Amino acid sequence: MIKRKFISLISIFILLAGTVSAHEGMWIPMLLKKYNIADMQKKGFKLTAEDIYSINHASMKDAVMIFGGGCTAELISDRGLIITNHHCGYSSIQSHSSLEHDYLTNGFWAMSDKEELPNEGLTVTFLVKMEDVTEQILNGVIDEMTEDERKKIIEKHIDELKKEASEGNDYQIKIKPFFYGNQYFMFTERVFKDIRLVGAPPSAIGKFGGDTDNWMWPRHTGDFSLFRIYADKNNQPAEYSEDNVPYKPIKHFPVSLKGVKKGDFTLVFGYPGRTEEYLTSYAVDMIQNKINPERIKIRQSIIDIMSEDMEKDPAIRIKYASKYARVSNYWKKWIGENNGLKRLNAIEKKREIEKKLTERINANKDFKAKYGHLLPEYKSIYENYTPYKLAEEYFFEAVWRSESVKFTSKLAGLLRKGDDVTEEDINKIKKYARKFFKDYNISTDMKIFKSLINLYYKNAGKDFQPKIFNFVNLLQKFNVNDDIALNLFADAYFGKTFYLNEDKFNDFIENYTYGSEQDEKIKNTPAYNFFYDMVNVYYTKIHNNTEKYDNRLDKLNRLYMQALMLTDTNKVFYPDANFTLRVAYGNVDTYEPKDGVEYEYYTTLKGVIEKDNPDIYDYKVPARLKELYEKKDYGPYAENGKMHVCFIASNHTTGGNSGSPVINANGELIGVNFDRNWEGTMSDIMYDPEMCRNITLDIRYALFIIDKFAGDTRLIDEMTIVE
Ligand code: ARG
Ligand code: ASP
Repeated sequence: MIKRKFISLISIFILLAGTVSAHEGMWIPMLLKKYNIADMQKKGFKLTAEDIYSINHASMKDAVMIFGGGCTAELISDRGLIITNHHCGYSSIQSHSSLEHDYLTNGFWAMSDKEELPNEGLTVTFLVKMEDVTEQILNGVIDEMTEDERKKIIEKHIDELKKEASEGNDYQIKIKPFFYGNQYFMFTERVFKDIRLVGAPPSAIGKFGGDTDNWMWPRHTGDFSLFRIYADKNNQPAEYSEDNVPYKPIKHFPVSLKGVKKGDFTLVFGYPGRTEEYLTSYAVDMIQNKINPERIKIRQSIIDIMSEDMEKDPAIRIKYASKYARVSNYWKKWIGENNGLKRLNAIEKKREIEKKLTERINANKDFKAKYGHLLPEYKSIYENYTPYKLAEEYFFEAVWRSESVKFTSKLAGLLRKGDDVTEEDINKIKKYARKFFKDYNISTDMKIFKSLINLYYKNAGKDFQPKIFNFVNLLQKFNVNDDIALNLFADAYFGKTFYLNEDKFNDFIENYTYGSEQDEKIKNTPAYNFFYDMVNVYYTKIHNNTEKYDNRLDKLNRLYMQALMLTDTNKVFYPDANFTLRVAYGNVDTYEPKDGVEYEYYTTLKGVIEKDNPDIYDYKVPARLKELYEKKDYGPYAENGKMHVCFIASNHTTGGNSGSPVINANGELIGVNFDRNWEGTMSDIMYDPEMCRNITLDIRYALFIIDKFAGDTRLIDEMTIVE
């Protein structure tokens, strides 16, 4: 019963808290009116909270969507045209590419609707409405319950609510916890499934600077691509069909040619994926000192091997471009994150927060009884949790990342179906395999595998080794060292696993029936046995332990969050990012990366030309772009004779915000968000207003590329351009 009191205390607190004033924060659209709008208007915003999020009339939220599984996009015409980042459309662009049609290198421009390319599996998801369902979800939940009991009730309520909300409609319903389960929101969503590729600049524009410039400012990347949403004749979502027509939205963003000045208000409206702003010092210590260094080491080894092979062979470069970008992206982020955490003295800062919290808890009898145990318990949990967390990281980064392992896991899924295997299952696997082999180079995978199992063997911990590695110890007795032994294993693994060869796999799957000899053939391969062995290690030695601690941490985190909120009632808290629609707002701003250096808030085409280097793939400026630069042929898109490319501002963003609309004080699109500065990448754990900047593509550069570089003027014509 005390529990209920605290729940209502928390919700009352959430309802009554004051307004905010900070650049930090990813705010809930339906609560802007309550907490943020005054501050936003003070910072320059000219519109109302209802213009951003409304369920009664068209608002900005009707023009913003989840793009695919992890990015944001926005509508820029009344014919369903959307813009997102080049790196968000990358795998679609890549999957249409081959040596004959190398859209990655040369770009792609549909000059009519007919030329737009469908993308199987690609969807966009709009938010119809969100509702606070905390009361319903936590109804009947009391303090004295075990976590399992609590979870059961919550799951039951989630299922019931979802069922009720989806009855008689085609909406997708999601319910997600906020503030570590102290609050719950329900999201009603609409999913469109016929999304076609409309345009993409060459990588030398859309990915200019590649992974060298990634996470860096000053930046010169034209990171955008264009897609179009198609709907059925009634303007409703539908599977791909030739008969579908461009979707007619109720809201799209007008595009501004005005550009930005230092200090201008900016708003980023999108889907930030995950932040951890309320971690304790113990958690930050684990991430910074134990987890990140290992992650960085593992990915470094993958990157070295991939880049060597990609450099040697253009066909391999195409095959591995997308995979390389994925691996290197967070490798670099973690390096930046660790630098930032160290510079900020994040662990020490967290300790200070904990000290203050402890004082406040101890000053109140009720708080002391309820929250007094939290910090000592965190300390002891993290001591025990760390080796399992590390092993888990090794499992996902060094085992699961291997392409052969991923492919094996698909096959294992098929075998597990046993007699229930259907035609559809087999077709699915065939389709997966076609895609897999299109981009597979077995010798690259083998080199990576060798390196990864070596790292796993040496660093994941001796309690977490697969049985198959026993032979390594055995061979040691005959003076064969570990490296050689593991290499021998990898040679056998690739030599004797027939299905890693495309022809042999196709033979196998064409004749596949459950229980056949073929089935045994799979089970006898080293890759299958290794997979099986590793999964077994994961479930019996790693996951069972991390799960145990995660369960305890779920509860601790929930209480810790309550304690933070209840003992600091002057502060308005924002919930960690959880891939739900959020608003971040701030101002265009410069920053000082180091003493004596100030970075300008914008970059121009001049910088692209300065970086031109015909010997490096990512810096090879296309001849056409140089020509436009020479002639200063910028159309209406230049500012004082300069073509602006990117700008920075103090919006608090994270992964998932890529492709988000960056909006000016009047609600017009001024850019597309795509990255953060390296010095600010620790913002997922600790935001620093002095140092954290989001990087935005100036929308005028995108227009210039579409219009002047590609000549796809029909696209400009369908936009609403504001002078
Ligand atoms: N760092 C940006 C984000 O996290 C862009 C990543 C894509 N670009 C790249 N060069 N890998 O997603
Ligand atoms: N580049 C990121 C994304 O793809 C954005 C970020 O992490 O700032 O979402």
